[in-house]
Amino acid sequence: MKNLQSKLYTEFDDDPAPIVDFMQWLRESYGIANLPHILDVGSGPGRLLDEYARLGWRVTGLEPDTDFVEEAEKVAKNFENVTLRQGGFADIDEVDTYDIIAAVNDPFMYLLEVEERVDALQRMYKALRPGGVMFLEMRNFLWKLWDYKDKVEETSVVDGKTVQHIMKHHLDFHNAVWILEDEYLIDGKIQGESEVSKTHRVAMITPPELFYFVRHVGFENLRTYNSYQARAHELLNSSAMLVSAQKPAK
Ligand SMILES: C[S@@+](CC[C@H](N)C(=O)[O-])C[C@H]1O[C@@H](n2cnc3c(N)ncnc32)[C@H](O)[C@@H]1O
Repeated sequence: MKNLQSKLYTEFDDDPAPIVDFMQWLRESYGIANLPHILDVGSGPGRLLDEYARLGWRVTGLEPDTDFVEEAEKVAKNFENVTLRQGGFADIDEVDTYDIIAAVNDPFMYLLEVEERVDALQRMYKALRPGGVMFLEMRNFLWKLWDYKDKVEETSVVDGKTVQHIMKHHLDFHNAVWILEDEYLIDGKIQGESEVSKTHRVAMITPPELFYFVRHVGFENLRTYNSYQARAHELLNSSAMLVSAQKPAK
């Protein structure tokens, strides 16, 4: 099956509704009055593009993975207000363009070098309009130490077949890189495929380091949250790490 990766990703993905509700709250709480232009960085197969578009927002999706881009294009072509580009953080070259730049569900963690993360923050800062908001969601590695499991399994049914999603972790301590092996085992075959696996290498980002760089590039009004249910700044104490910050208004 073409784009099996996208299909399996979508199957095990969470409901986007709480994310969209949170984004609407985020926009209001930072005082963005106009219908925003949002850049969805690392948009994956595009589960949020149509959700933002239905709110009347102008949406630009940016995604480096070819398989995901093909799926996201199918979403984008149904909406006049959605544009899609292939690329990642290093391809954000716009100036004073977006009201919100959001990287939901880990894209920022794929930047393994500190220099890449600082470059990404600088690019997002430049690409935001004054008063615009950056939002990053990633995993809280330090919390994982509290409840560390090197293997997690979940099961779902896709096209009538049982699919087992097995996630194994390894740690590269020297480079502070977390290696996640994502494997899908399909009971029987989905159009010729019985196994799909992908290895993700993501950075172990600690909150103080991230806060320092976010402020260093010029952002202010930094807030953190533990989940999409939050409606105020929270100290981080869960498996997720959600961070927002604002480019100063002129
Ligand atoms: C777990 S997926 C999240 C997809 C989507 N945001 C969602 O919530 O469904 C992580 C995404 O980050 C993307 N990604 C990896 N490296 C990236 C980079 N350097 N810049 C932007 N996105 C990147 C991956 O291709 C993948 O689509």
